[in-house]
Order: sequence, then C-alpha cells, then structure tokens
Amino acid sequence: MKAYKNLQEFIEVLEKEGELCRISTEVSAELEITEITDRVCKLQGPALFFEKVKGHKIPVVTNLFGSYKRIFLTFGVKSLDELASELIEFMEIKQAEGFLEKLKLVPKLLKAKNVFPKLVEKAPCQEIVWKGEKVDLYKFPILKCWPKDGGPFITLPCVITKDPETGVRNIGMYRMQVFSKNTTGMHWQIHKVGAKHYRKAEKLGQKLPVAVAIGPDPAVIYSATAPLPEDIDELLLAGFLRGKPVELVKCLTVPLEVPAESQIVLEGYVEPYERALEGPFGDHTGYYTPPDYYPVFKVTCITMRKDAIYPATIVGKPPQEDCFLGKVTERLFLPLIKKILPEVIDINLPWEGVFHNLAFVSIDKRYPGHAFKVASALWGLGQMMFTKIIVVFDKEVDVQNISEALFYMSGNVDPERDIMVVKGPVDALDHASPKPAFGSKMCIDATRKWKEEGYQREWPEEAVMSPEVKSKIDKIWKKLKIEELLKRR
Ligand SMILES: Cc1cc2nc3c(=O)[nH]c(=O)nc-3n(C[C@H](O)[C@H](O)[C@H](O)COP(=O)(O)O)c2cc1C
Repeated sequence: MKAYKNLQEFIEVLEKEGELCRISTEVSAELEITEITDRVCKLQGPALFFEKVKGHKIPVVTNLFGSYKRIFLTFGVKSLDELASELIEFMEIKQAEGFLEKLKLVPKLLKAKNVFPKLVEKAPCQEIVWKGEKVDLYKFPILKCWPKDGGPFITLPCVITKDPETGVRNIGMYRMQVFSKNTTGMHWQIHKVGAKHYRKAEKLGQKLPVAVAIGPDPAVIYSATAPLPEDIDELLLAGFLRGKPVELVKCLTVPLEVPAESQIVLEGYVEPYERALEGPFGDHTGYYTPPDYYPVFKVTCITMRKDAIYPATIVGKPPQEDCFLGKVTERLFLPLIKKILPEVIDINLPWEGVFHNLAFVSIDKRYPGHAFKVASALWGLGQMMFTKIIVVFDKEVDVQNISEALFYMSGNVDPERDIMVVKGPVDALDHASPKPAFGSKMCIDATRKWKEEGYQREWPEEAVMSPEVKSKIDKIWKKLKIEELLKRR
C-alpha cells in the first residue's frame, strides 16, 4: 500500500526510479504529444513530462501508468496478485469469536477506517478560482490526439456524480470533448453509472451536478476506471488502495466533493434532455468511434492548484497505457470473480483484445457443459458482459501464456460442437456489431471433451517426456554447451 499525497509526489518517485523522462523541447498539444507518447508506449517506455507545450504555461504528463514497474510503484506492491490478496483478506473480515481472534482483526479494522474519505476545509485544488466569464477550457493544454478527432479531448478525467435519489457517489473515467470555452461532451456510455445518474435526473426533470477531478492522486485515477458494482463509491476502493483516506473538499458551485489534492477541478452540471454530437475519436479499439449524441457538460467554475500539471492519456492500437490499467482490474477482480465462480482458476484479458474483446479463462471442469456455464455467468457479471469472445480451458493450461492458450484453443475445438453464440449487450465502442451496443458474443470451449458431451472416441494423451529422462538431461544439459551457442548467435 502506498499513499501518494498528490500527483507531484508520484512524479517525483517516478523520476527517482528512472521511470519519467522530462521533455524540454517545445511540442504541440495537437497531435505531437500523441505521436511521441504512442512511440514510447509501444516500447513500454517511461512516463513523459512535457515541460513546454506550445501556447500554454501548464505542463503535460502522459503515460503515467504505462509499465508494470509504474503500476507496482502506484500501489507500493511487488505484484498485482499481492494487492488482490490484500483486498480479499480485507473483505473477509468476519465475526471473530475468541479474544485472540478479535485482536488479530485490529489491523484490518484500522484499514477499514482508512477506506472512508475525509472532508477538509482548505484544499490545494482551490488555490486558483475561475468563475463566470473567466472560465476558459482553452487555457489548458488539452490534447487533440488523432488527426480525425472531433477536437481536443480531456482523456483522463475522474467524473464525479451522485445518484439523485440515494445520494451515493460515483467516479467514472469518461472522456470529454471540448466544445467551447465552457462546455464539453460527457461520454458516459449507456451502461455506465454516470449515465444511470443522468437518466434518473432526467426523469426527475433536474439538472445533474457534475465535478471533474483532473489529476487526483494515482489511486483515485485508477479507481475511476475500476468496474465496481453500481452502488459502491470508488473512493472507498481508492482509500483501501492508498491505505489512507482520500481527502475531499466541498466544491464551490455544486453540491459535490472532490479530491483536495487534484490538479484541476471542473464544476458544473448536465442539463436534462440536452445532447450534442460528440466525436469522432481515435479510441481504445484502434479505430475512430463515429460521432454520436451525448450529454453536454456546462462548466460553472474551474479551480486549480498554483503548480497544476495537466495529466493525459493516449488511447489507440494496443499496447497503450490503458493496457496496464486493464491488467490491474484483471488481477484485482479475479479473486472477487472466484468468490462467485470458485471453479475459475485464472483469467487473462490479452492486450490485443482491448479489455472487452477476448478473455482466456481456465477452470476446474467438473461436469459436462461446464465451460458454457462459466461463460454465461461471466457475461452476467458487471462489465464482463461486454466480453465478445470467451475461451475456456482446463485448469492445467496456463492462460497467461498466449502461445500455450492458442495451441489448446486450436487443437481442442470442434467448432460445431464447441462454440456457443449468444445475443446481448456489447461494448458501446464495438464497431463490428450490426447495431450500436447490441450484438453477439461467443464462448469457445477449449477444454478436453467428455463422453457426456458427445465425444465418443478416446481423448488422446499428450506427448510429454517422462520425468526420469527430463532429470537425466537436466544434469548433463550444461555440458552439451547448447546454451552457450544460443547466446553467441
Ligand atoms: C483512459 C480511459 C478512458 C475511458 N473512457 C471512457 C468513456 O469515454 N466512456 C465510458 O463510458 N467509459 C470509458 N472508460 C471506461 C470506464 O472508465 C470504466 O468502464 C469504468 O468502470 C466506468 O465507471 P462506472 O462503472 O462507475 O461507470 C475509459 C477507461 C479508461 C481507462
């Protein structure tokens, strides 16, 4: 667990660890920062701190999370599975019986205290205040990412809303296209919680207050991307991940609170039933998402730190920074999925599948049709509903090894018997489905087939070497000098 006070502190650590490159050459926020960041992402290179952005005083930082080392630094862990097991252990606080058991619970209960955000009076993110006519989004180095994008987009915003009926807070990362000096698009897709709050507000005939935190501390940034159940405040996850409460301050013009250490905060509201054409946008999928109608965010007030940095991300053909954020979710949510589906051994969402297109799942198969049951259950779990292709393997298959997974997928499948196609919601960004957000999904059952599944032959034995011969060859392996030759090649 690691609690960074703010982005500045995180950036300092990245620099010390050789994970940040300062760029002093002047570059443009229009396309040039994308081109540099894209090249660096493809090399799994450092975070980039652009000191001189043409026409702007505020520096830009990109690729903050684009390597496993930076992800580990974000959370102060050596592996993501370590983080996941801490989360599961924390969630398993149960009734302790004896005195000793109660004593053991104390550290966990202290952690529980850290989970809840804390309200403060004064906040760095309100050092500078622009209201009314002074509000001007063009003062910020907001990136136009790809040549055919509809304009500049805020790409790393933490969008804060409250359920108009229950008051439960949500933070989601939804890109925002700048339409004018005080309006933007609000790209919460129909399946997302921000959109649900907005629908409720529309039904009540109310405008929905919105606050956008740009550049809170790294745990809050990640939490805004996490697919938490609908009525869980992302700040609880952030508090857990930091091991310290997130400090919040009241907004100046809307009834919401924002992380006090944010770089920039946009306050405003979204009017009921107002839509504007948003896009195109070069998206996570590597394709442009075509223009579509989305709500309009009206900015009533901008507050910021005196030393504000503008953080941004680039999305596009993988690998990009979002691949690493996706891997955090894959690892963190696996133990939670296992609580519901204990037969699941491991899950890999390969980068090439851009979160939603492809999942490799290994299971402890116990009955005929088990693979289809697991796929159906996964499609019923939150944002896993978007997964276009789920390939299910036996527990022995290492799904993190893509080559191994493809070997079993291609060899073990009789397409007529082993493919199940279903209809349902698909990701709003999916460009292949005949209709937006509605299409089909496929499960490929790549497990060994059983007689009960209609396989009437003997499943063949895999050709593997005997352990005795393996260990004999291990002993003489060095003497054969094959590795020396390999190294010289
Ligand atoms: C860089 C980045 C940009 C994203 N942009 C959007 C977006 O524009 N619209 C959207 O609905 N989801 C977007 N997402 C995905 C959501 O942040 C994600 O589904 C999150 O869980 C939504 O939160 P919610 O469940 O509270 O709605 C983006 C994710 C990342 C990492």
